[in-house]
Amino acid sequence: MVQRIRKAVLPVAGLGTRFLPATKAMPKEMLTVVDRPLIQYAVEECLQAGIDEFVFVSGRNKGALEDHFDHAYELEMTLQQRKKAPELKQTQAATIKPGNAIFTRQQKPLGLGHAVWCARHWIGREPFAVLLPDELTLDTPSCIGQLAAAHDKTGGSVVAVMDVPRKQTKSYGIAAVKDEKDGLAEITGMVEKPKPEDAPSTLALIGRYVLLPEVFDHLDQHETGAGGEIQLTDAMAKMIGNEPFHAMRYTGRRYDCGSRLGFLEANVAISLDREDTKAESRALIERLMKG
Ligand code: G1P
Repeated sequence: MVQRIRKAVLPVAGLGTRFLPATKAMPKEMLTVVDRPLIQYAVEECLQAGIDEFVFVSGRNKGALEDHFDHAYELEMTLQQRKKAPELKQTQAATIKPGNAIFTRQQKPLGLGHAVWCARHWIGREPFAVLLPDELTLDTPSCIGQLAAAHDKTGGSVVAVMDVPRKQTKSYGIAAVKDEKDGLAEITGMVEKPKPEDAPSTLALIGRYVLLPEVFDHLDQHETGAGGEIQLTDAMAKMIGNEPFHAMRYTGRRYDCGSRLGFLEANVAISLDREDTKAESRALIERLMKG
């Protein structure tokens, strides 16, 4: 029987060098898109898919992430006294159920594969989700929910992919696929950050994965790949042919919030989309465009 996805790994140890000095004393995952931090979008994406156990693989100076999902008693009390009901509701909504989050540290920046490997004891031998929080995806059902549904069908690992311009392949893990049907294709190969001329396709991994626990057997080898790092893509590539492995073409919205422009785009797009901010944002942007 196919096991339901219950747990998600959130690698949050990165330094966020592209956002310095904003990220000097603050985790990059706490950067705000409209009114909530990036990390909250990833957690909400999981909750929408019924995934409610979290392993945060964090690092030094990341304490704010842990605080964010805890109760903030003084603040909540003050909001209550001031009768600020909507604000109180928003604050309380940003909590994770007691005992449902684990924070462990990736002590050395050895790569994404190593970060995921750091979660192995908390995942155990069951299929699990991985979300890279600086990739913000918005869709109904959520991207990770779509992957979990695809896993229910195939029983194997499934990763989300999107077409990118060929010159960008060097920024992504790239999948080679065959037999695409209804947005789902069998993966025949995977390579981390290939040069455009070497890329087997232009289907980029966008930081959303549902993986079988066998990936840990390969990560256990601690082999280094692109950039001298232990790559998740390399460990996944070793699973091809052993267990079912599919790529799901994701068609919802996605913002690369690891880049300054993508982050700005997410802020503008989401504020133009949300009922409560839409009209004001549009008027503001139109005014600014007039110069
Ligand atoms: C990571 C992964 C890469 C993936 C990308 C998505 O790279 O290693 O396979 O395509 O995230 O954002 P990073 O951007 O952390 O270098």
